[in-house]
Amino acid sequence: MKNSVKEIEKLKKEKDAIILAHNYQRKEVQEIADFLGDSLELAKKAATLSSKIIVFAGVSFMAETAKILNPDKKVLLPEKEAYCEMAEMVDIGKLKELKKKYPDAAVVSYINTTAETKTLTDIVCTSANAVKIVESLPQKRIIFIPDKNLGTYVKKRSSKEIILYEGFCYVHHKLIMKKDIEKIRKEYPDAHLMVHPETPEEIQEMADSILSTGQMLKEASKIPEKTIIVGTEIGMVDRLKRDIPDKEFIPLTMRARCRGMKEITLESILNSLKYERYEIFLDKETMEKARVPIERMLKVK
Ligand code: 13P
Ligand code: SF4
Repeated sequence: MKNSVKEIEKLKKEKDAIILAHNYQRKEVQEIADFLGDSLELAKKAATLSSKIIVFAGVSFMAETAKILNPDKKVLLPEKEAYCEMAEMVDIGKLKELKKKYPDAAVVSYINTTAETKTLTDIVCTSANAVKIVESLPQKRIIFIPDKNLGTYVKKRSSKEIILYEGFCYVHHKLIMKKDIEKIRKEYPDAHLMVHPETPEEIQEMADSILSTGQMLKEASKIPEKTIIVGTEIGMVDRLKRDIPDKEFIPLTMRARCRGMKEITLESILNSLKYERYEIFLDKETMEKARVPIERMLKVK
């Protein structure tokens, strides 16, 4: 492992590359990243880069977003199977039908969507800014794509009419369960429970706070509780433990593991840098159309 780290560092310098990583990456991948963050932080960072090569340790929609914001750079995703299963749930035909049915509605797409979905989108949002993005729009009616749980979270906090889509994240929707909370609350009655807005409504209602992964990091250092239960993908626990060593972080369940995120290893990052693979290719028209809703999001203050 030590040798891979050294080689990665060497190749990064030689090739003028930068490694961006999401908070759900493996611990050792988080440790070699130049920048680590949630989807919003990563999109903001990707909009300001000067390196020739961007290696994205995350899932494909994140690497696509980086490519769309940097059309002239080489963007690499170290593993072909590193994709977000929720992003693949959007049926383009159904989305077009919804747009026809509600011509007055704005389409707000979660950043966890493919570049093609983004071409049919008015504005992108992440879990960190979804309510703010929806509220920033002049339209009263919003088609919210694809996460029904994040959509429900927004619906409860917004003045708009929200039309939901039947999408979800299997990690948060299926692998995090009510019984996990009941059990852990008995074990740690004084702990603070944070969950991600991709969890179902009944899980959100049992939590002390509902936050994006970046917000979890900020909130965890602010709150008085010394023990914090983390209701999201288990990689986040490694991030919290490393950044806030004086507090105790307990995963709500070890089942919450994202296959796509965990595809990426130090070895695949090394090979990605060595062979410059797997490059993200998107056609010019798709990139131009998909860039509009991403840039709109980045402009909302
Ligand atoms: P964050 O933007 O909160 O990091 O979430 C990304 C994600 O994929 C959640 O499953
Ligand atoms: Fe997609 Fe869920 Fe994995 Fe996040 S945790 S990347 S939403 S499958």
